[in-house]
Amino acid sequence: MCGISGIVHTENFGRNLLNSIRNLEYRGYDSCGVAVIQKGKIDLRKNIGGIDDVNLKERLDQMQGKIGIAHTRWATHGGVTQENAHPHLSANRKFAVVHNGIISNYQKLREELLSEGVSFNSLTDTEVFVNLLEKSYIDSNDLEQAFLAALNQIEGSFSIVMLSSHDPEHLYCVKKESPLLLGLGEDCNYVGSDINAFLEYTRKAIVLDEGEYVILGPNKYDIRSLKTGIKIKKDILNIDWDIETSKKGGFSHYMLKEIFDEPQTIRQAMQIPKSQIATMAKMFAESKRSYMMGVGTTYYVASIGQYYFSSIASCYYSALSSDEFSVVDIKRGDMVLAISQSGETYDTKTSLVYAKEHGAKTAAIVNVMGSAISMMVDQVIMQGSGPEICVVSTKAALAQTFIMLRIALELGLIKRKLKLNNYKKIQSEMQEFSKIIEIVLNEQSGFVRNIARDTSHVKHWLFLGCGVYYPVAMESALKMKEVTYQHAEGMPAGFLKHGTLSMVDQTLHTLFFVPPPEQKDLHKRTLIAMEQVKSRGGNVIAIIFQGDEFAKKLASQSIKLPVVSSLFAPFLQMIIAQMFAYYSALDLGRSIDRPRNLAKSVTVG
Ligand code: AGP
Repeated sequence: MCGISGIVHTENFGRNLLNSIRNLEYRGYDSCGVAVIQKGKIDLRKNIGGIDDVNLKERLDQMQGKIGIAHTRWATHGGVTQENAHPHLSANRKFAVVHNGIISNYQKLREELLSEGVSFNSLTDTEVFVNLLEKSYIDSNDLEQAFLAALNQIEGSFSIVMLSSHDPEHLYCVKKESPLLLGLGEDCNYVGSDINAFLEYTRKAIVLDEGEYVILGPNKYDIRSLKTGIKIKKDILNIDWDIETSKKGGFSHYMLKEIFDEPQTIRQAMQIPKSQIATMAKMFAESKRSYMMGVGTTYYVASIGQYYFSSIASCYYSALSSDEFSVVDIKRGDMVLAISQSGETYDTKTSLVYAKEHGAKTAAIVNVMGSAISMMVDQVIMQGSGPEICVVSTKAALAQTFIMLRIALELGLIKRKLKLNNYKKIQSEMQEFSKIIEIVLNEQSGFVRNIARDTSHVKHWLFLGCGVYYPVAMESALKMKEVTYQHAEGMPAGFLKHGTLSMVDQTLHTLFFVPPPEQKDLHKRTLIAMEQVKSRGGNVIAIIFQGDEFAKKLASQSIKLPVVSSLFAPFLQMIIAQMFAYYSALDLGRSIDRPRNLAKSVTVG
């Protein structure tokens, strides 16, 4: 996935276009570029590297104009080279295009253009499209007609924004299976692949739907259907995300800032109306079979949810990784809940399409307003966690887990497995929970940092937990891998003795997620596994709850959490593991907010 931005203004837009791709950089950061119209001609500058690097090389900050497009790239097809970076110019330099997605028939079209004498600078599908535009314009001498004629020839998924010196007052935009939104300002309009492209300048947005194209001027926009050409009237959304939450606010990295946003994120999750949560719980209760899915972190959120549903409401629903969802034999009467921060993840989207095609009802927990997943399901809960800029998901994942707990509690009531007074007691504990998170963040970060300093050299970790702490361990291991590039394997603590124990020696480090002692069975099983590692000379580090002397004795180092009810214990463990991954990566000098090879939302298969 990549970031697209475009601005059309009545005045010079200064550095706003550059700022806007800065705000999108988390979407992709291996190369970037900007194209503006200056004195009737397209000025295009692009190069490889992050935005600051490219700015130094190309002086993007000096590019000014009233209309322009920009792009920040995460390479999927074609290597990371200056030629492959966007925007792409047509041969006569009168058209420039930025594009997200894949034009699946571009090879054939490229060969046709080559045989007609067009030469290419890059290996991209985008350069094929921009040359189709040039060719179509020669035929029609009309920009809208040329845009439509070129679009008519391409297949695949794409969002595209076109700039042309033939019309210095409008951008031409299209959306098909890849997100694109408009931002509406005063004497100025915006287009972007997500709202961060223009959140700094306007809170009014329009989400484009499948197969819509737009001619965007500074004071007006014309949205039409690609199929029929008919004009479409759209609702204007008021974005309630706070701009400040998308800034770093004094923290050295977004990851740390977003971990410290977590008390607020939990408060937001608590403010989601009970009616929405109850409707979702009812969907589970009324469906023949129910499934939960996500991928990467959101799969682990679904897996934690699985334990909550089972322990609170006695309902066992499978959690699946959405890239493997097609194994499920979905039938009418089933229901599928998808969890996605971005709402654009290809694997999750594709699995939802599969579920819908087979007659299932669909639901989702999503963070990004107007995202594809939020629009395609029967029932959506917007988690309201605010922009999460760091590629590594922290606050969004924690809020999603909290929402899963809330749904499980409603389901517990529906299924009569949870008594009303117990439900009320948990609800009032939930209201206070953000304060406990604040205490943990403030009191524990120093300890976590010290342990991370001592252990950042460790190349192999086993993260172990029982019951609900097993998916917590898996999620925490993923955090560790993605941000430190070191190996961490999450595993059920009881599974250890069935093979992996052979690896244990002085060099192996383990991190145990120890439940509060009140969870007797889980606690006992976790301590047995700790013994097994310790007695073989392995290094045991543990996240424990205050007063747990047995666990403390088994660990060489431990992080002590305040005692909370067992339903909330996994959240505190997750937060500590997020901090541990962060400080380990800090010690290793990693690119924390934008780890190598990753992107914030993976919109390709
Ligand atoms: C999280 O830290 C990861 N970057 C990744 O696993 C992510 O959770 C996954 O790609 C799913 O993304 P989504 O929530 O946007 O659908």
